Amino acid sequence: MSGIPVWMDCDTGMDDAVAIMLAHALSEINLIAVSTVCGNAELDKTYWNTQRINRLINADYPVYRGAEKPLMKPLAPAVNVHGENGLGGVELPLPEDVIVPDVPAWDALYACARSMPGELRLVATAPMTNIATAFIRYPDLPGLLHSVTFMGGSAGSGNVTPAAEFNFYTDPEAAQIVLQSGAKLVMCGLDVTNQAYYSMEQLESMAATGSRAGTFVRDCGRYAWSVFGKLGMAGFSMHDSCPVMYLAHPELFEGKMAGVAVETRGTVTNGKSVTDLYSDKQFPFKNVLVLLKVDRDRFISILTDCVLGIR
Ligand code: RIB
Ligand code: CA
Repeated sequence: MSGIPVWMDCDTGMDDAVAIMLAHALSEINLIAVSTVCGNAELDKTYWNTQRINRLINADYPVYRGAEKPLMKPLAPAVNVHGENGLGGVELPLPEDVIVPDVPAWDALYACARSMPGELRLVATAPMTNIATAFIRYPDLPGLLHSVTFMGGSAGSGNVTPAAEFNFYTDPEAAQIVLQSGAKLVMCGLDVTNQAYYSMEQLESMAATGSRAGTFVRDCGRYAWSVFGKLGMAGFSMHDSCPVMYLAHPELFEGKMAGVAVETRGTVTNGKSVTDLYSDKQFPFKNVLVLLKVDRDRFISILTDCVLGIR
């Protein structure tokens, strides 16, 4: 297949599901596999939700199981945001005859990266427990990857605490390992991902086409809106689609190289990503391209075309 080779690591949840659909539909992307991790929900749910998305989009991407808990912290699933089943209560059928691989996510990712040195783009849309585990076990893996483009952190405020974004908060030790790994890093933090949102009107328009995939996204959006609408949020943020869209259409985004670190010992600030973008004092390193702006109209237009193009 043509397109840039991409491996996704997800905690399939609603916006992870849309990101997988986007990667599937974009001609610029060749989705190789999806590994799953605990986060939005327990591993069993995120794994089988990913298989449900395979069936929804008529695909059979290899799906691997990873970590059942963060490196150090207890797991605190985002039930309030993604619901008990991780998909906002939306019921999807399972594919039949699934053979669950007995190779863990980190071993499968390493084998894949070794088969294409310098080419594999890793997209992380979840707590980075699987990736950190892989980097610990295989110290040469960061250098084998082309890059790690991740949804996580923020240069500004948080969403799970006033300080921290959910993926970084869930496993700050894992985030620290990835930030210090030497891999080429692109960060899609809340600063940019909250710009990439669907309005309810746009979601209803997608469903009105009769598209199966569009109806799924609308149904997820309705659940998210029931949570966020009353908080004054603009709409259904497509957090996890941002790293995928960046790989195919970097021209939609603006960003700056920065030093980025994560707080692992704080209480009020635990999991907070700290950047030197807005401070006089600079870190002695510039380890991450931090994306700060996106052309929302073009983002939503491309994403909608991709979703409605799924048969
Ligand atoms: O903070 C948003 C992130 O946390 C997204 O990846 C969402 O799926 C949740 O995992
Ligand atoms: Ca996610």
